[in-house]
Amino acid sequence: MNSNKIREEFFKFFESKNHKVVPSAPMVVKDDPTLMFTNAGMNQFKDLFLGNSVVKYSRVADSQKCLRVSGKHNDLEEVGHDTYHHTMFEMLGNWSFGDYFKKDAIHWAYEFLIDKMGLDKNRMYVTVFEGSVEDNVDFDQEAFDLWKALLPESHIINGNKKDNFWEMGEVGPCGPCSEVHYDLRDDNDRTEVDGADLVNKDNPLVIEIWNLVFMQYNRKMGGILELLPNQHVDTGMGFERLCMILQGKKSNYDTDVFQLLIQKLSSLCSIPYGQDEKADIAMRVISDHLRAITFSIADGQIPSNVKAGYVIRRILRRAVRYGYTYLNFRSAFICKLVPTLVRQLGTQFPEIAAQQGFIEKIVEEEESTFLRTLATGINMLDSLLETIKKDGKTLLSGNSAFILYDTYGFPLDLTELICRENEITVDIEEFNIELQKQKARSRNAATVETHDWVDVTPCAETKFVGYDETSVETQIARYRTVVTKNTKHYQIVLTETPFYGTSGGQLGDIGKIFNANDVIEVTSTVKENGLIIHVVSKLPDNVEGMFTAEIDVESRRASAANHTATHLLHKALRTVLGSHVEQKGSMVSPNVLRFDFSHYQKMTEDEINDVIRLVNAEIRENHFCEEERDCPIENAKGKGAMMLFGEKYTENVRTIKFGESFELCGGIHAERTGDIGGFAIMTEGAISSGIRRIEALTGSAKVESEITTKRILTEIQTLFNTKSVLGAIEKLVKNNSDLNKNLDVLLKERADVIKQNIKKRLIEENGVMWYISELKASADMIKEVATQLYSEMPNIAFIATTSLDNKPGVVVMFGKKCIEDGANAGTIIKSVSKLIQGGGGGQPHIASAGGKDTSKLAEVLDVAKAMAVDMLSK
Ligand code: SER
Repeated sequence: MNSNKIREEFFKFFESKNHKVVPSAPMVVKDDPTLMFTNAGMNQFKDLFLGNSVVKYSRVADSQKCLRVSGKHNDLEEVGHDTYHHTMFEMLGNWSFGDYFKKDAIHWAYEFLIDKMGLDKNRMYVTVFEGSVEDNVDFDQEAFDLWKALLPESHIINGNKKDNFWEMGEVGPCGPCSEVHYDLRDDNDRTEVDGADLVNKDNPLVIEIWNLVFMQYNRKMGGILELLPNQHVDTGMGFERLCMILQGKKSNYDTDVFQLLIQKLSSLCSIPYGQDEKADIAMRVISDHLRAITFSIADGQIPSNVKAGYVIRRILRRAVRYGYTYLNFRSAFICKLVPTLVRQLGTQFPEIAAQQGFIEKIVEEEESTFLRTLATGINMLDSLLETIKKDGKTLLSGNSAFILYDTYGFPLDLTELICRENEITVDIEEFNIELQKQKARSRNAATVETHDWVDVTPCAETKFVGYDETSVETQIARYRTVVTKNTKHYQIVLTETPFYGTSGGQLGDIGKIFNANDVIEVTSTVKENGLIIHVVSKLPDNVEGMFTAEIDVESRRASAANHTATHLLHKALRTVLGSHVEQKGSMVSPNVLRFDFSHYQKMTEDEINDVIRLVNAEIRENHFCEEERDCPIENAKGKGAMMLFGEKYTENVRTIKFGESFELCGGIHAERTGDIGGFAIMTEGAISSGIRRIEALTGSAKVESEITTKRILTEIQTLFNTKSVLGAIEKLVKNNSDLNKNLDVLLKERADVIKQNIKKRLIEENGVMWYISELKASADMIKEVATQLYSEMPNIAFIATTSLDNKPGVVVMFGKKCIEDGANAGTIIKSVSKLIQGGGGGQPHIASAGGKDTSKLAEVLDVAKAMAVDMLSK
């Protein structure tokens, strides 16, 4: 059975059990500060487990794109070296939100695997939670009894907290779990060692395939467990592992999920898979990482130097390094695998098919850049090794290895490999110290202490009224304290609110929450796991009772205008540049709007002007905002509404139409395009390969910017005393260049005069022609003169100071012969520059310094002369 069919069978089975099959949520997480990437199927339902949102379907099934590369669940280092860990994988899940519990979850898992998929029950083992004294949770008797009715007792194993109590992070929903394991070993091996003894022992052929989590607790700060309002089921089955079993393979990489990619890779590098262990690992790493990279980019996460973008960049670089070292790739190769992946998964995950060209471009550019960095790093390492060998040493410092690791993306093992080939070892201890220091630095930067919620007024879900109201009577549902490095603030959730929480690129509202006793400023509003959170710096004295929540209308109006302008801009860009333009990010605040989009070259001046004209024309059209709040997503799509990849859409969506611009959008908009009051583009530039950013102003911000520009123009006109500044500036530029030409001639003449004067004053001592004096000329002029003298007189020793414009300067120069005799201008300058509180440098034949203290110039001449005499007399 091929993998696509297996996924389909899973969905069909749970549909027959009245589950609603839903699409995977994006892999890149946007509204949860504790997570960068979806690391389990349950992430997208966290708000339901926590009781933040109302449950719409109580039974759900899906295949969730997951990425485990950082944080609590991190499999990165194992990937490629074993047969069953991955960065990106699909997690098949069935869910009960306050509906069925252990009995159905266990029965259906058994029915699907044994009855439907035909697995062998003799090879199936399950684990149940043994209990925990520390957490005051008992042995899971119920799960044990349920399994005992299906499997022999010898196939049921007790598991500890580490394996059988599932937690998403330090805090959050959790509960005991029951894992299903499968023994894939040959019969001989199975008779020798009982499968039960190998469960959870890292045996690649006795592996966990499904985890049934019985969510009943919420872990609070400080480790306390609290019962959740309802009991839920969260199951997660490793899709690739299931494919391995059903396709009779012993490695996930031997299934069709990976083999298509591996075969393509093997043909690209002309190395067969399965003949050399190192090349095989490299192919596994690359085929795994390619999936992670492709899906992340499709969901809107471009490789970059910060946060989630950096994680993706590191994964991509790890793949490039393996390809470079073990498969001999020297030019971009990962991008060439994208079409194969799209052919394989583009139907189940249309986001990768729709963006194939874009993904290939981003990957290719990123790979090529890193291959160049690798080459630079290798050159650097080569020259380090050369110096080490020249000095007769055999150790590369840990510091150097760390710089290679940190700046050039060289893993320690690659540095060690190259060093070994040169019979040099790496100071690992020092490397580790540097690594620890770096880790400590990032830990300190990121410490945030989030306290538990304190419930005030029971509330199933905050009612958002902000599309229609700017102020509402409400109550505090809950609040919590958040402590970051030096500051403390509070977060408040209301039962009803007009405050829009930051999302879809639009910054949240500011405003106030008040009653007769208190006025609390809301400094920002954010969204987290379905909650609208009002950020405040103090709490009311009494959190109970009624409050008025009121947004700042002016700032809301400006944001709304900017948001509507981004829609018009999006449409105008597609009209002017073409339909390949897709929104790749946006930021809408009251002051400015930023719009990122896919496009491969710099926009021309004409294109920018056309876009400005189009947007302003739409503003003048004064289109009404045509809003539909509860439009079934399929209808919206059918009518041609623009959707963005990487966004999580519900079944019913909100659509916003202004004239020809028609988008799915949850943001706040102007009532009419005329409210925008004018639009101007301030900057256009690249933010990464294939992605450009426009920053623009509207309304009063645009007017203010124009006033500033006009003021500057008036000042320039006054300065030039003319209205036609362009002509005046052109004239000025020409005058300046003529003056410079004249100046060059004059300077040469002056240098010649000074040089002739100096020559007349040279004093001969022991075959050396000395000039030691102060000069009334600029340091640059003196250097010019000294350079000319150097080429004319091999036996000259020249030491000159200047204090022109009260700035002390020294120039020392020696002719060729003096240098052969041991003179060194650089050494002298290094010493004497300290006397004038300055710095400088140069070469043995000429060096100069500037400083602060002119009073020591006479001393400088003395010291310099003494040093020069000393050098020449040796
Ligand atoms: N949340 C559990 C896991 O990730 C089951 O889905 O393993």
